[in-house]
Amino acid sequence: MSTAAAVTTLGDRLRGDAHRVVAAAGGEFAETLRAVQRLGEARLRLSPAARIARERDPAAMFDLDAYAGDVARLAAGEPLAYVLGEQPFHDRVFVVTPDVLIPRPDTEVLVTCALGRLPPHREATVLDLGTGSGCIAITVALERLRAQVTALDASPEALRVAMLNAERLGAGNVRFLRSHWFEAVSGQRFDCIVANPPYVATGDPHLADLGHEPVSALVAGSDGLADLRHIVARASDHLEPGGVLMVEHGFDQRDAVLELFREAGFTDRQGIDDLAGRARVVVGQLAVPVST
Ligand SMILES: C[S@@+](CC[C@H](N)C(=O)[O-])C[C@H]1O[C@@H](n2cnc3c(N)ncnc32)[C@H](O)[C@@H]1O
Repeated sequence: MSTAAAVTTLGDRLRGDAHRVVAAAGGEFAETLRAVQRLGEARLRLSPAARIARERDPAAMFDLDAYAGDVARLAAGEPLAYVLGEQPFHDRVFVVTPDVLIPRPDTEVLVTCALGRLPPHREATVLDLGTGSGCIAITVALERLRAQVTALDASPEALRVAMLNAERLGAGNVRFLRSHWFEAVSGQRFDCIVANPPYVATGDPHLADLGHEPVSALVAGSDGLADLRHIVARASDHLEPGGVLMVEHGFDQRDAVLELFREAGFTDRQGIDDLAGRARVVVGQLAVPVST
């Protein structure tokens, strides 16, 4: 009878670590195992196919130090995107740090909406308010090369990340400004304004799950509408006649945001759902003055 101890394989190690992360941080095992496998692939420089092919190799064959540090961060509740330092968005990969909101798939609805209003052959000016990682501004700039995009944020740390992303992804038609909403673009008008501003209410229980992301990217007063109110009320001063404003909002804020658009004089107001069928974006147009 053999007395040799069973060899721990790479696959055993990944599955064991996934169990430990679930025990420490909660979450679903299948999703956590996928996150742990992503960390393994990234730190061991293995493609997904190579990782699968090598799961029966002894774990001792691999240098797992960096990977182990990453798993510890995951077990402490840090989002996978911050541990990896990147997040896919609209077919591109963006650098992310804890200074920026992690781009959400839901926000792709806002981008699709903006691209739908910006014909590829036409020149246009676009303003992205609260650019964060730059995911909206850079995607629009790369998909609409004739557009001139202005991206602003109040956070200098976020702007550094956005500028890095623009450089890495080769977006030359975006300029970045540090600004409290419209302050740095006083007197300037745009064909299209997009915004994914903070829209979570101060006491929202979901904030507990978002503890690693910057509060300044999430929270907007007691009803979550403080920044949306400010932006919608002032947008018409920064839109060309016929220009469009589109904003992302919380799933239960559509009626309130449509009302803000109505009060601010926007026409063709429309609510758009996200990929999960939840109310997510409101768009409206600034009327073209009728000449007499
Ligand atoms: C919800 S995050 C959106 C980030 C990014 N656009 C995205 O969709 O992933 C909101 C962004 O607005 C910025 N922000 C918050 N208050 C601001 C203000 N007063 N002026 C300009 N930007 C602000 C935050 O720093 C943050 O980057």
